[in-house]
Amino acid sequence: MKGTILVTGGAGFIGSNFIRHTLSKYPKTKVVCIDLLTYAGNKDNLKGLPNNRLIFVKGDIANKALVARLVKKYKPTYVVHFAAESHVDRSIHGGAETFVRTNVLGTAALLSAIKNASSIKKIVHVSTDEVYGALPLKGGKKFTEESLLLPNSPYASSKAASDLVARSFFKTYNLPVVITRCSNNYGPYQYFEKLIPFSIMRLMGGNPITIYGDGKYVRDWIHVEDHSSALLLALKKGIPGEIYNIGADDEVSNLALAHRLLKYFKKSKSAITHVKDRPGHDRRYAINASKIRRELGWKPKHTFNKSFETTVAWYVEHMGWMKKALARTGRANTHL
Ligand SMILES: NC(=O)c1ccc[n+]([C@@H]2O[C@H](COP(=O)([O-])OP(=O)(O)OC[C@H]3O[C@@H](n4cnc5c(N)ncnc54)[C@H](O)[C@@H]3O)[C@@H](O)[C@H]2O)c1
Repeated sequence: MKGTILVTGGAGFIGSNFIRHTLSKYPKTKVVCIDLLTYAGNKDNLKGLPNNRLIFVKGDIANKALVARLVKKYKPTYVVHFAAESHVDRSIHGGAETFVRTNVLGTAALLSAIKNASSIKKIVHVSTDEVYGALPLKGGKKFTEESLLLPNSPYASSKAASDLVARSFFKTYNLPVVITRCSNNYGPYQYFEKLIPFSIMRLMGGNPITIYGDGKYVRDWIHVEDHSSALLLALKKGIPGEIYNIGADDEVSNLALAHRLLKYFKKSKSAITHVKDRPGHDRRYAINASKIRRELGWKPKHTFNKSFETTVAWYVEHMGWMKKALARTGRANTHL
């Protein structure tokens, strides 16, 4: 894969993994990353990457003039759009406006700024399984690309709206946009407000893990490296206008995940505290990813069973990274 990729939100959890993954897999590829460095963005996530192949620009995707300048200057062949407000709890307790502003207006501004760029061959709009809403615990049903959009949180509704904006740019302007919808990611460099790093931080600080309600909330986990490999395939082989679900068939309840952490840190069950449930909490997500497997030949390499402990060990070994980010952004702003 040659040429330049414009990556938005590349200093975040998944974007930084995608950049790392792509630069090491393709020695001739360059990346231009535009990131606003909100509380969730962290330049340390990109540390050690070759600076002759990675250009970092601090900026807002909603700044059309800036995006247009970058496109004119670097003539990217591809765009991968990660930039978003991504934390469900913040969208519930902190107000939905920031989510609509970045995820919907930001996506519209970005796509408007690049829609006449002749260098661009493909755009991947990175979305989430949360746009489909929730599934019942029993019955084994999974989300397909044809499932209805029934988002339940302000985060999910802003992502669903951004998907529709992306689709309309394909239909109206023939912009070669592919939409991907992935399940819950785990792996290194995730900001510590999210379940796994947050729980690790709590346990390491001698505090109990906090679990919403009864904890019987099931998520379909995928290692972030597998998400990155799927996105590269979508970029290379994905058909514009199509949607591809991404998931690794690894359903785990929040309570089961908490118990695995207790085992890892040799703690007793008293190190779990059940807290008041999240409003509108989705019971279960499960992704049917047969389309991307069948049509693009994607296959995940990790299983939650094998890669969960490696992920936990990474956070334990990288407490310095976590503490530095904490000092910069303040205490993780969670439901507590
Ligand atoms: N984390 C998951 O499990 C998951 C699953 C499926 C899809 N996704 C999607 O993947 C994308 C990345 O998620 P993540 O977990 O890495 O999020 P993250 O919160 O870790 O990173 C988001 C990044 O976007 C940047 N950003 C925010 N607003 C911006 C703006 N206006 N302009 C430029 N940059 C801005 C932030 O600084 C940060 O670096 C999101 O679109 C999210 O909806 C995430």
